[in-house]
Amino acid sequence: VPVLAGFLTVKGQNMTNPLFQKDIISISEFSKDHIELILKTAFELKKNPRNDLLKDKLIGVTFFEGSTRTRLSFETAIQRLGGRVIGFPDAANTSLGKKGETFMDSMRIITSYTDALVIRHNKEGAARLAADISPVPVINAGDGSNQHPSQTMLDLFTIKETQGRLEDISIAFVGDLKYGRTVHSLAEALSLYNARIYLVSPESLAMPQYILDDLTKRGITFSVHSNLEEVMPKIDILYMTRVQKERFDETEYQHLKSKYILTPEILADAKENMKILHPLPRIDEIVSSVDDTPYAYYFKQAANGVYAREAILSLVLNKEI
Ligand code: CP
Repeated sequence: VPVLAGFLTVKGQNMTNPLFQKDIISISEFSKDHIELILKTAFELKKNPRNDLLKDKLIGVTFFEGSTRTRLSFETAIQRLGGRVIGFPDAANTSLGKKGETFMDSMRIITSYTDALVIRHNKEGAARLAADISPVPVINAGDGSNQHPSQTMLDLFTIKETQGRLEDISIAFVGDLKYGRTVHSLAEALSLYNARIYLVSPESLAMPQYILDDLTKRGITFSVHSNLEEVMPKIDILYMTRVQKERFDETEYQHLKSKYILTPEILADAKENMKILHPLPRIDEIVSSVDDTPYAYYFKQAANGVYAREAILSLVLNKEI
């Protein structure tokens, strides 16, 4: 039975899957319908696993910046769906790393071998550059402090799984809102769902103005806070983030790293069904005793990454599924 039986059908006619052969670079390119299609597919694949949707597909998974969850959940998704993977977890041993080959030449070669490319890079815009020369779809697995669209899909999936809805969610983003690409992408996506957003960060790690301007333009209510306790009773989701060590010099990092540390005591006034999400890795911003509270959901969130990435890859590589 096709995964999307009935969903991609209008008046009995099959519709073309709108994500087929599309690059997945930035949330701003997604309509609400695209997001709903990915989420619907991900929920279906969680309920009814498939092992054939990437049969005969070879996918390049190229990471120029470190990763545990994103790389391994993409590779898990590919293998569970019957596809095959080539790539590297670190470019140091490639001809780019060893011999000075250009990024664009490297991308041209790898995308000539594969049916799709997944790329993470420390430079903003790298995935877009790769997509510009690639004959196959490119999926951004995180580019510098810019965007992380597949993380957004697993975050939305997890919010819907825990709250039963995406509309009218109250969410606090806490920590490094300046460099945290996951909050940039997720804020943009939630603006399609009338979210109420609380921004909690040190002043020097505030959400970039261009994102605030975008939220204002979309009519989204947000407020800026330095105190986490004051927003706790109001929120459905607490989205914690790590201060991104790799984007600071050591002195500045030491100054900022422990500004917000979540303990069970801070959760005293939380709503009963409030859930804590975190893209992970965490350093010290959530103490381990929070893991045992009913609010902790970040490990299940990371596990959901496989279903979100299965959905993205299936839709990008199959006209009908
Ligand atoms: N959430 C996330 O991007 O984790 P990794 O850096 O381990 O991939």
